Amino acid sequence: METMQTQVLPVNEESIQLAADLLRRGEILALPTETVYGIAADARNGEAVKKIFLAKGRPQDNPLIVHICGMEMLHGLVAQVPDRALRLAKAFWPGPLTMVMPRGPEVSDVTCAGLDTVGIRMPSHPVVQAVIKASGVAFAAPSANLSGRPSPTNAADTLADMDGRLPLILDGGESDVGVESTVVSVCGEHPVLLRPGYVTKEQMEQVLGEEVLVSHAILEKLRPGETARSPGMKYKHYAPKAQVTILKGDFEKYKAYLTAHAAPGVFAMCFTGEGKDLPVPYIEYGTNGDGASQAHRLFTALRECDKAGAQVVYARCPLSSGVSMAVYNRLLRAAAFRVEEL
Ligand code: TXA
Ligand code: MG
Repeated sequence: METMQTQVLPVNEESIQLAADLLRRGEILALPTETVYGIAADARNGEAVKKIFLAKGRPQDNPLIVHICGMEMLHGLVAQVPDRALRLAKAFWPGPLTMVMPRGPEVSDVTCAGLDTVGIRMPSHPVVQAVIKASGVAFAAPSANLSGRPSPTNAADTLADMDGRLPLILDGGESDVGVESTVVSVCGEHPVLLRPGYVTKEQMEQVLGEEVLVSHAILEKLRPGETARSPGMKYKHYAPKAQVTILKGDFEKYKAYLTAHAAPGVFAMCFTGEGKDLPVPYIEYGTNGDGASQAHRLFTALRECDKAGAQVVYARCPLSSGVSMAVYNRLLRAAAFRVEEL
């Protein structure tokens, strides 16, 4: 693709206006959200959205999430607001929850990858809200990584992937959550969790008073030929350059395994405070048992592995419920589903 000058600007009135102008002109830009950094384009403008796919090197069959800043913006974007969507919106919007709803007439085919549904999210991040208000544009935005790389949670990691590929990165500091939004389908007979995130299955069940089904693609590899309900789940994702393996078992067994496998290029990705007892270089990714702190660190830790020159990474295994389900889901993909029981 053609390269261009990429400007990284602090957030102020002027840079928000610049971002809004770019959106209105059908251009793209990167900006912070409370989950991860995203690349935004007008969701109604197919030519603009194509530029996102080009910048990321992303397959065009993977639909994008549309970002809004008020319920009135749903008009034209969705065909109908299911009752469950209203209840979940009341509880979790603005925030890190995306709801898949019947698609409205105004969303570009490119945004939805031709599906008859659309994923909508109302972020809580003040920069997203300011840019949408200033532009009047509901924007499609995937994570701001090159396709297949860990999602960036700050402007520097966004620049590392996107330098020369888009005109503007708004620098709003580190993203709070650290993993992408929860994706839930509210279209069918039952609500279905398509991607775990900071808003948990358990929290949604509490609000809805019914079970939220879990798409099995979340914690299992798709069988050959199987189609994913959430197309993003089918790609190898979030992968650092190193080969990652998840080791399931307690810390003593983990330490013993690393002692047996210590070699140049072998790194540990462990929980906070554990590294000093290990025989190999280590990168810590949050507190044992605390999904939110692991989520906050996960993608940065994966990128740190690359920066440190890791070739083989052995990662501690998170739990698979609550916010940790999101951590485990991303880590599984970074590890290409390599898990060893100790
Ligand atoms: O936190 C987030 O959601 C970030 C920030 C930038 O807002 N965005 C993000 O977008 O993660 P992306 O494009 O990287 O992930 C979108 C996910 C993919 O797994 C995609 O398959 C799924 O949402 N998705 C989008 N629209 C869908 C639809 N209509 N039906 C099913 N899955 C959908
Ligand atoms: Mg992504």
